[in-house]
Amino acid sequence: MNNISVIIGTQWGDEGKGKIVDLLSENADYVVRFHGGNNAGHTVIVGGKKYPFHLIPAGILQPKAVGVIGNGVLIDLEVLSSEIKMLQDEGMDLKKKLIISDRCHLILPYHKALDLAYENARGKNKLGTTGRGIGPAFADKVSYNGIRIHELMDWNLFIEKFKFQAKIKNEILKTFDVALIKIDEELKKIADLRKIILPFVGDTFVATQKAINEKKNILLEGAHGVMLDIDFSPYPFSTGSNVITGAVNTGAGIPVQKVSEVIGVVKAYTSRVGGGPVPTELEGSLADELREKGGEYGTTTGRARRVGWLDLEAVKFACQISGATHIVITKIDVLSGFEKIKVCVEYQLPSSVIPTSSSVIARSETTKQSNKISYSSCGYKELARVIPIYKEFSGWKEDIMDIKKFNDLPKNCQDYIKFIEKFLEVPIKIISTGPAREEYITPTP
Ligand code: IMP
Repeated sequence: MNNISVIIGTQWGDEGKGKIVDLLSENADYVVRFHGGNNAGHTVIVGGKKYPFHLIPAGILQPKAVGVIGNGVLIDLEVLSSEIKMLQDEGMDLKKKLIISDRCHLILPYHKALDLAYENARGKNKLGTTGRGIGPAFADKVSYNGIRIHELMDWNLFIEKFKFQAKIKNEILKTFDVALIKIDEELKKIADLRKIILPFVGDTFVATQKAINEKKNILLEGAHGVMLDIDFSPYPFSTGSNVITGAVNTGAGIPVQKVSEVIGVVKAYTSRVGGGPVPTELEGSLADELREKGGEYGTTTGRARRVGWLDLEAVKFACQISGATHIVITKIDVLSGFEKIKVCVEYQLPSSVIPTSSSVIARSETTKQSNKISYSSCGYKELARVIPIYKEFSGWKEDIMDIKKFNDLPKNCQDYIKFIEKFLEVPIKIISTGPAREEYITPTP
């Protein structure tokens, strides 16, 4: 049987998936992105060198792995071409190493302009998007106004479609009173970029079906995290795509029953970029310390991330909905030196709160009887009001980055890790103890 593994972020993204993807790609024949766009960022450190990825699967750095960008991924031509260049400058011959689905939709300049215009217009209610045009590009996709990457092959038709869309978008941009798209200038840029990208565009379904039939190993590289899933996040504090396991079917054409392993990546604490409720968020000096130690600044936007304690109520939901067969715990080293470490094990609503979101009204049986509320029953308003119930752990002082055996970890660190595994009821596959490829522990049962 071939091994088809899916990597899913179980929090708000930035769980440290890049390193795990790189690590697990060692035996992969194909590494596949299946959703999102260049709002995602995966950083891989190999031989002391940092490789930031936004579109190309991070697993491509492994010599054997072929990178596939599935149809569910939105493509910004400029970002993709600079990633192609980064790898070619390293001497990588991408001809047989990269395939981009011809069905991918494009993020075009007007999508980015609209994303920013909507955000500015929202004022104090802004969502904190990455500004990469994700929402507007997905909106065009589902309203049949999108332009797909294969359309770059028929240049005259592309020009016609681009002009039609850009003119409409300029009308909308006018209402926001912002700069309009310079249509001919943008077309000139796209004309150059298409030459770089078209050689890699093909039918990825054929490639992945062949791989499945030939019993090859496939690693599906999730981006973002379940708490940003367009359906299962506290909407509208969401990203535009489905993040959960089912998206491998819609976003890469891989039948779900072929998946043999779902790996949920759990960062040892929480971080969030952008707006929206984060029940375990910390403030003040503790937050600053965690942010600095964890280097919690966005790979994509450079923004300082909001940070907090691990929220197992939310992560449990993420593991359940994505069918996690294993978890990977990342950045445990960042917690070294904290005197006390807390973990959220339950949410409670203050008794004064009357649930208002439709999801809560539909499932209000539990809330009638007690103040306990599950993550899945929370709309964004409830999530903003929940009281996290914590379990407190004593910390450890030792630097654990060089430790290679679970039993050599400080006792308090072992207890913390064992608690997570027991609470989630999902076995741990890997514990990551530092940013570099070799810094990890495989726990023995
Ligand atoms: P968008 O995806 O740019 O539309 O942004 C929507 C929300 O998702 C914002 O809060 C972003 O900060 C967040 N977001 C999108 N992608 C990622 C990611 O890969 N990591 C962390 N946050 C993300």
